[in-house]
Amino acid sequence: MPDFAFATCLPGVEPAIKLEIELNRPDLKFAFSRPGLLTFKSTQEITPADPPGSVFARVWGRSIGTVVDPSAVAAEIAALGATRVHAFSRDLEIPADVARWQAIGPGGAAQDGELVADLIVPQGAATEEATWLGLHRHDPSRPPHAGGTFGVVVPPDAPSRAFAKIEEAIAWARIPMAAGQVALEIGAAPGGAVLALARRGLTVWGVDTGELAPNVLALPNVHHLAKKVGAVRWEELPPRVDWLLVDVNLAPQVALHEIARLMPKLRPTLRGAVITLKMNDWSFVAELPKLVARIRELGLPDVRLRHLPSNRREVCAVALPGVS
Ligand SMILES: C[S@@+](CC[C@H](N)C(=O)[O-])C[C@H]1O[C@@H](n2cnc3c(N)ncnc32)[C@H](O)[C@@H]1O
Repeated sequence: MPDFAFATCLPGVEPAIKLEIELNRPDLKFAFSRPGLLTFKSTQEITPADPPGSVFARVWGRSIGTVVDPSAVAAEIAALGATRVHAFSRDLEIPADVARWQAIGPGGAAQDGELVADLIVPQGAATEEATWLGLHRHDPSRPPHAGGTFGVVVPPDAPSRAFAKIEEAIAWARIPMAAGQVALEIGAAPGGAVLALARRGLTVWGVDTGELAPNVLALPNVHHLAKKVGAVRWEELPPRVDWLLVDVNLAPQVALHEIARLMPKLRPTLRGAVITLKMNDWSFVAELPKLVARIRELGLPDVRLRHLPSNRREVCAVALPGVS
């Protein structure tokens, strides 16, 4: 019997995962897909610790197959050695009947090294379809919660989902942002991420021609530079910037070009950057290595990419100085 790998993802980004696998994993051949789930047949052994083959995968691991006999699945999971059960809707935004599966074993956040059984449950109109069983071994690079999520709760006064984007990035890459530090966000309006960082006690400078939401702008540790990034002069920036956030709706190459102009001023104090790379079409996937190289050239060599749960047609890049 050949081994199979599985990936879950935001429904609609399956083509991006297929392309990335074609480019990077010659051992894998596409086998099966439904919105939010793909499987790949492997020429080699696929262990639950198999490194994710795509930055677009929310959960990646060894595919066991469809659940044929629901009454036997608890015993099957125990025999596989999983100590945690993550049952989740194949489309995280549409509820599925996960309760019956959650009763099988402990849910909640996986610990580093723990073997997790993933039960990927069809949702909404797809409820007649099969539930899939997979296995992954949790490690610090993977999201700890069911479905590849981080357990971020967006407060009702957040003006945009970018609140979740930055909190997910911080949780995933364990970014050491701390009260008293200074963040600069390019593309800050209406201010979801600014609010998240201001709540963490950072001083936040937002560059955007658009308005920040009144509740965000009113905070004493928030400053707005109401101009395009291309018009920002070095003297207008705060004397020290610890963290750079980039969330402009510009093509990634254009956004990175604008950032490069500011880097000589920022680099001496910069601890890292969180850059949202906007994806116009699937050709973006083939460009990812070039974009990573471009970010490294900014002076931040440790670059990681992930399609975060709150990302849509975009990918999050976290860039850190790395060990020197
Ligand atoms: C996805 S939104 C940013 C959301 C924001 N990060 C938040 O937390 O709410 C993209 C923003 O980029 C801004 N933008 C587009 N081109 C820009 C430029 N050249 N300079 C500055 N901001 C720009 C837009 O005005 C828009 O507000």
